[in-house]
Amino acid sequence: MYEILRTEELAPKIKLFEVYAPEIAEKAKPGQFIIVIINEKGERVPLTIAGYDAEKGSITFVFNEVGKTTKQLGLLKEGDSIWNITGPLGNPSEIRNFGKVLCVAGGVMIAPMLLQVRALREAGNTVVTVMGARIKELLFFKDEMKALSHRLYVATDDGSEGYKGLNFLKDVLAEEKFDRCVAMGPVSMLQKVCELTRPYKVPTVVTLMPIMVDGMGMCGVCRVNVGGQMKFGCVDGPEFDGHLVDFDQLIKRQRMFLPEERLSALLWELGGCGCGGK
Ligand SMILES: Cc1cc2nc3c(=O)[nH]c(=O)nc-3n(C[C@H](O)[C@H](O)[C@H](O)COP(=O)(O)OP(=O)(O)OC[C@H]3O[C@@H](n4cnc5c(N)ncnc54)[C@H](O)[C@@H]3O)c2cc1C
Ligand code: FES
Repeated sequence: MYEILRTEELAPKIKLFEVYAPEIAEKAKPGQFIIVIINEKGERVPLTIAGYDAEKGSITFVFNEVGKTTKQLGLLKEGDSIWNITGPLGNPSEIRNFGKVLCVAGGVMIAPMLLQVRALREAGNTVVTVMGARIKELLFFKDEMKALSHRLYVATDDGSEGYKGLNFLKDVLAEEKFDRCVAMGPVSMLQKVCELTRPYKVPTVVTLMPIMVDGMGMCGVCRVNVGGQMKFGCVDGPEFDGHLVDFDQLIKRQRMFLPEERLSALLWELGGCGCGGK
């Protein structure tokens, strides 16, 4: 059992949990993820590691309450326990001195990007960060991101704060040379970032979040097409060369269980999923 040491609501339906998991905290690196199982009947939910403290024995993750399991997770409080957490999984991010790095983070993935920005900065890079959300109320960690970045841009889909959308990046990319771009967020955002960086030949690394089950390379559910080759998101990734990713196929695969996911959330909300409301 993994005790929840701290919870914080960062924005509506976006929660941070710090959990006691010393064996994961000791090995975790930026870019890796965990798989959380809430209780003995729970499904497996992959979440990106957003922080770790080996001395305290804790890891931090931030999640969006989008469906049955993440809503269930959001009901847990400090002092409660999570049944199982597996990790760290996936390959760590490549962190070294690239020169000037453009970091683009959207939605809930602003949290793990903060870890990445800190590591890139410590490795000697100049870091320019873009953080975005659908609406201004969903932005969080602005002060923290500003403190760690050499420059910070804020964008929202509706223009309620900062730039409206990501098109402003065309001018930024035309004016200055970047040695690398790192992007984390919804797949539509990753696709857009890759379109923007491609003409300037900026190597662009994206964190993919295909549907996963075991997270260890055994089930094959997390297949993604990268440069015409079949890769497993969990063991070959989760980071890939964004200019080679078949995003259309990824989007289709991410939506493949939508009817079942909606039904599962509905049944749970009605208390009739056969799990006794668990
Ligand atoms: C490597 C990786 C890292 C992730 N990191 C984060 C994170 O840091 N914070 C966060 O909020 N979310 C993260 N996700 C997405 C998170 O796993 C899903 O939001 C969660 O599984 C949804 O479960 P649900 O039952 O609440 O919703 P559901 O209603 O079951 O699903 C909602 C949507 O989430 C996606 N999803 C569902 N099941 C899975 C699954 N087993 N694996 C991957 N995606 C799934 C699908 O696109 C689906 O349409 C990550 C996913 C992956 C693969
Ligand atoms: S999640 Fe099973 S192979 Fe990747």
